[in-house]
Amino acid sequence: MRYKISSFIMIPSFLSVIIFALYTFLRSYNRLGYMTDPITIFFIIVVTILLIILESINHLIFKIQLRSISEKEKKKILEKNEGNYLYTFYKFLFYDPKILNKGVRKIDHGFDGILELDNQLPVWWVHLFCITVVFSCIYFFSYFLFDFSDPYKEYDYSYKKQLQEIKIFEKNTPQTSLSTSSFKKNMVNEGQKLFEENCSTCHQSDGSGNIGPNLTDNYWINRVEKDLYKNIFSMIWNGSKKNPTMRAFGKTGEIKGNDIEKISSYVYFINKKIEKPIKQKDPQGTKILEWESKK
Ligand code: HEC
Repeated sequence: MRYKISSFIMIPSFLSVIIFALYTFLRSYNRLGYMTDPITIFFIIVVTILLIILESINHLIFKIQLRSISEKEKKKILEKNEGNYLYTFYKFLFYDPKILNKGVRKIDHGFDGILELDNQLPVWWVHLFCITVVFSCIYFFSYFLFDFSDPYKEYDYSYKKQLQEIKIFEKNTPQTSLSTSSFKKNMVNEGQKLFEENCSTCHQSDGSGNIGPNLTDNYWINRVEKDLYKNIFSMIWNGSKKNPTMRAFGKTGEIKGNDIEKISSYVYFINKKIEKPIKQKDPQGTKILEWESKK
C-alpha cells in the first residue's frame, strides 16, 4: 500500500506546525532566536530534500514491483492511484473507499426500536482531534514545566525589560543642566503637567502659592542667579539653602534635568504672563524689578 500523501509534504508540514506551536509558546519571552535561525531553516530544507529523494526511490521501487505482477492486478492498482493529486487528497480526507464499500453500520437500540447510523468519522475530523490532543499535551506540560503563560512571570519579565529600557534610554539621552538649559516656549504645556504632579502641593497648580511662595509675582526669597529663568532652574535643582522644605529635586535625582527644563519653562512662563491668578499668596522676599514682567 502506498501513502496517499507524499512524506515530503507531510513531514515538513508537521515540522512547521511544531515550530509554530513553539513559537506561540515562547513568543512573550524573546527566546525566538533559534526559530528564525539559519540553522533551523537549513534543517527544514535538508529534511525536505532528503524526503524528496526517498520518495523518488520509493516511487521507482513501486514501478519495478509493478512489472512482476499480473496485468489484472496492475490495472487495479493503477486505477486506485489514478487521478489528479488534489482529487486523491480530497478522497483521502473525506471518505475512505474501504469503509464506503462496507456500507454504514447500524446500531439497534432494541428497546425503543430506533436504529442509529454509526457513520465513520471523516479523516480530517479524526486528524484534527488528534492534533488537539497533542496540542493540549504540549500546552499542559509547557505550562507546568516552563514559564510559559504564567502571568506573574510574564509580568516580572516585562517589568525587568522595561526597567532595562529606561536605563538605556536615560544613558543615551543627554540631560540638560543649569549651564545648558534655557527657556523653551514649546515645553510649557509638558512643564505644566510635571508642575502639577510635583509642585502643586506646595505652590498650587497655578503657582499662586500655598506652603511655598507665590511663583507668579515679582517677589523672590531666593536670588541665586542673575537671570530669572536660571534662578528658577537653580532653585529646583539645588533646593533652598534657607528652607529645606523646598528640596533639591535635581541634585537628588528625583527629577531629571530635561524635566526640570520643562518645569522651569512653565514657571518662567506663568511668572512672565500678564494675567495673574485671582487668589494669590501674600508677597514673600524682596521685589526684583529687573525680573518684572513688562507690559
Ligand atoms: C514640600 C513643599 C514644596 C514642594 C513640593 C515644592 N516646593 Fe518650591 N518652595 C517651597 C518652599 C517652602 C519655598 C520657600 C523656600 C525658602 O523660603 O527659601 C519654595 C521655593 C521655591 C522657589 C523659589 C521661590 C522664591 O521666592 O525664592 C521656586 C522657584 C520653587 N520653590 C519652585 C518649585 C518647583 C518648580 C517645584 C516642583 C518641582 C517645587 N518648588 C516644589 C516648598 C515646596
